[in-house]
Amino acid sequence: MNHPSTILLVDDHAANRHTLIELLDNPDYRLVEAADGPEALKLAAQLQPDLILLDVMMPEMDGFEVCRRLRESPRLAEVPVIMVTALDDRQSRIMGIGCGADDFISKPFDRAELRTRVKTITRLNSYGRLLRERAKVDEANQKVREQAALIDLATDAIVVLELDGRVQSWNPGAEKIFGTPAPEAHGRPLAALISKGDSSQMVSAIGDTLLLGEWRGDLPAIRPNGDSVTTHSHWTLLRHADGSARGILAVSTDQTEFKKLQAQFYRAQRMESLGALAGGIAHDLNNVLAPVLMAAEMLQADPPAEMQKEMAKVIQVSAERGAGLVRQILAFARGSDGQERMELAPQHLVRDAVGMAKETFPKAMTILSDLAADLFVIRADPTQIHQVLLNLMVNARDAMNGVGRLTVAAENRVLDGAFAAQKPGAKAGPHVVLRVTDTGSGMTPEVLAKIWNPFFTTKPPGKGTGIGLATVANIVKEHGGFVEVTSKPGAGTTFAIYLPATGGTATTAEATAPVQLPLGRGERVLVVDDEAALGQMIQALLAEHNYTATVADGPAAALSAFTRGEKFSLALVDLNMPVMDGGRLAKVMRNINPALSVILVTGSQEVMREQSKTSQFAAVVAKPFTAETLLVAMDKVLHG
Ligand SMILES: Nc1ncnc2c1ncn2[C@@H]1O[C@H](COP(=O)(O)OP(=O)(O)O)[C@@H](O)[C@H]1O
Ligand SMILES: [Mg+2]
Repeated sequence: MNHPSTILLVDDHAANRHTLIELLDNPDYRLVEAADGPEALKLAAQLQPDLILLDVMMPEMDGFEVCRRLRESPRLAEVPVIMVTALDDRQSRIMGIGCGADDFISKPFDRAELRTRVKTITRLNSYGRLLRERAKVDEANQKVREQAALIDLATDAIVVLELDGRVQSWNPGAEKIFGTPAPEAHGRPLAALISKGDSSQMVSAIGDTLLLGEWRGDLPAIRPNGDSVTTHSHWTLLRHADGSARGILAVSTDQTEFKKLQAQFYRAQRMESLGALAGGIAHDLNNVLAPVLMAAEMLQADPPAEMQKEMAKVIQVSAERGAGLVRQILAFARGSDGQERMELAPQHLVRDAVGMAKETFPKAMTILSDLAADLFVIRADPTQIHQVLLNLMVNARDAMNGVGRLTVAAENRVLDGAFAAQKPGAKAGPHVVLRVTDTGSGMTPEVLAKIWNPFFTTKPPGKGTGIGLATVANIVKEHGGFVEVTSKPGAGTTFAIYLPATGGTATTAEATAPVQLPLGRGERVLVVDDEAALGQMIQALLAEHNYTATVADGPAAALSAFTRGEKFSLALVDLNMPVMDGGRLAKVMRNINPALSVILVTGSQEVMREQSKTSQFAAVVAKPFTAETLLVAMDKVLHG
């Protein structure tokens, strides 16, 4: 017996208690005194004694009553009770048995007898206690076995990982979802089992779990047979009793079916937004076809060889632009099946979306992009982010009734924990914020409260379905981000999309991309050329590189565009024009707006040499020029 037995001595006479204390003085016993019945009951409840020596004759509450109450209490019913009585008669013994006493001892005590009985009873009691504890352990084991059986039955993959990502346990659900039998999975890194060794997502999930105690997210997996599965996973940190990390419990639900349905839904929604663009697309295709038809017509008249070349070029550029537009629409309509996460430079996403809007939105709208330098790289599905931007931009277009300013901006934001805590679904760390701002109708607080509900629309039937923003919310959530909206009736609306970023910038991605021509920053450019087709060609080229170009087919049209109050940053002027040559036109325009930069385009080498000496022109570009020559020259002039 390693711990002393607690014995409660109950007697109203202190002298009697002392006698007992002297008799039982022994390191095996812890002796506690009670001077009356109520105190005895209280101490018994507190201490769960191994034995109670109970005097019968006490005022207030006698020993029989105390014994009866002990037996009524579920926790104390088993405590052995020895009645101590001076009345060595049968009557009180019978009463004692009736009350549930276990034994009797009469005063004055026989020392040896007292000690022996106490010893026997405490020993028996401790065996009983051991048996009861054993029964409890068995019950607990039974529970563990039942839980293990449940884990085996679960359809979810329930996996316990070491902190380094190695598999410690792997239930039949995991065998089924991930396709690897448990004996093969044990001890191997999870990344090797489900993602062909690509551990980047595991590393960040383990990091989050260690840091925040849990991680939730989509965990795409590839089975050994090559099938891919999409799971939604919830990882929880398991701790030792002292609080130190011991492992990770990863529960993953198969989402493959769900994701398939979701992909169908997204595709349907993309079709809807293409429908919203259809008018613009048709218009744009006509714009692409017009110069082709025109050039073909001119070619039939058998113009000089120089001209023929130019016409052929117009046809080529226009056709390429048309093909590009069709390609873009098809890629968008087809989209990705499920999620295709890749490292993306946000500036490309913004440029693509802005490019598409510029081609298809009413020309009276000003569409600008505003890209911060050194944007972080995000891990995202390009089709889906394109879909988000396009939905927001179509909404902006509708809110502006075709006139006004639409800006798509991108910037880096590193969220601190306090900020993230206030935004449901947000996490601290580097983010890229994509902002779509319009100068449209804005929204009342009542409308604002409902915009995320699927099928909420304020547009007439045929114009709106109300699923655009619901889709935006879903996609952003799946990317681990969140949306902020600010809107003022009559003033306009900004949607800000926060997407978690890797923290690295795209310089390396950019370097491996095909030659990147310098881009504009949405500046307005006036192109003055009396050859309309060439003018259109330049316009297309500039539109693709984030400039907004207005084409004038001669000095008169140029001056009228100029005096209409359109603010141009740059004019691209052909030297050889009827009525007023490029040099004089430049002078006139700079008189109206001294801040205007003018680039001269000329076919003559001599003029070129001569003019580049004068300060009238910011640059001189020789005809014929390549897209690169022109864009580099413009970039130098505008962005130094
Ligand atoms: N930029 C915006 N300016 C004003 N109202 C907007 C804007 N974007 C969305 N809304 C409001 O939110 C509603 C829901 O938008 P959405 O889910 O895209 O559906 P839909 O465009 O088909 O109506 C719109 O009908 C409109 O009332
Ligand atoms: Mg919409």
